[in-house]
Amino acid sequence: MLPVELSSGVLRLDAPQGADADRVVEYCQDPVMPSYLARLPWPYRVTDATDFLTGYVPAAWADDQEYTWALRGPASAASSASVSPLLGVISLTVPVGGDRASSIGFWLGPQHRGRGLMVEAQRLVLDWGFTTGLCESVRWEAVAGNLASARAARKAGFRYTGLGPAGIAYRDGTHPPSWKGELHAADDRTPAQGWPAEVVGA
Ligand SMILES: CC(C)(COP(=O)(O)OP(=O)(O)OC[C@H]1O[C@@H](n2cnc3c(N)ncnc32)[C@H](O)[C@@H]1OP(=O)(O)O)[C@@H](O)C(=O)NCCC(=O)NCCS
Repeated sequence: MLPVELSSGVLRLDAPQGADADRVVEYCQDPVMPSYLARLPWPYRVTDATDFLTGYVPAAWADDQEYTWALRGPASAASSASVSPLLGVISLTVPVGGDRASSIGFWLGPQHRGRGLMVEAQRLVLDWGFTTGLCESVRWEAVAGNLASARAARKAGFRYTGLGPAGIAYRDGTHPPSWKGELHAADDRTPAQGWPAEVVGA
């Protein structure tokens, strides 16, 4: 399908563009990124961002394999003439058959974290995935210890399903111990019991 735009009062999610490459490169210099994002090339270069933005992302939308959005500030008359700066990225993979669930992945530029934006972005994407009927359930996973990701997933309504090897191989070929969660279309999305104590916090 063609990219779909989603929005709320605080965020707009739309198609990543080639013009976003500089910001993607800047954000992906954050040293936590290669530890937490299994498929991120490292070191991360301009060609990696360009390939991602103008190659992988539009092809995966067109093939209905993975839907990737740019997070941007809300639309305004002042910003409508030009592309509002990219803040981060969120994506949803959709299984093509069998009983595999969809999966969600996300990241923000370091200066855009800590404002709850990824909880809101997940809400928009999950609502879209469930209401369109493209998803019946969605899985989340993060390297054990990635508290920011786990807290954002818990706040978005994911239920903790346990610790296990990462479902996808990391750059070094390993499957590091990972926290896993799942959300079903009918779940009420209030933060669930059962998460590791350090995720729930004080
Ligand atoms: C994961 C990520 C998108 C979350 O975005 P965010 O803006 O930090 O999310 P929030 O502001 O909603 O914060 C989520 C929670 O994590 C906490 N948190 C943020 N950074 C943290 C850190 N380094 N250590 C511990 N807790 C942290 C916040 O306090 C918040 O908890 P609270 O709501 O109980 O106060 C962002 O941290 C990020 O891009 N990280 C690097 C890439 C990554 O790990 N992606 C996920 C891969 S699975």
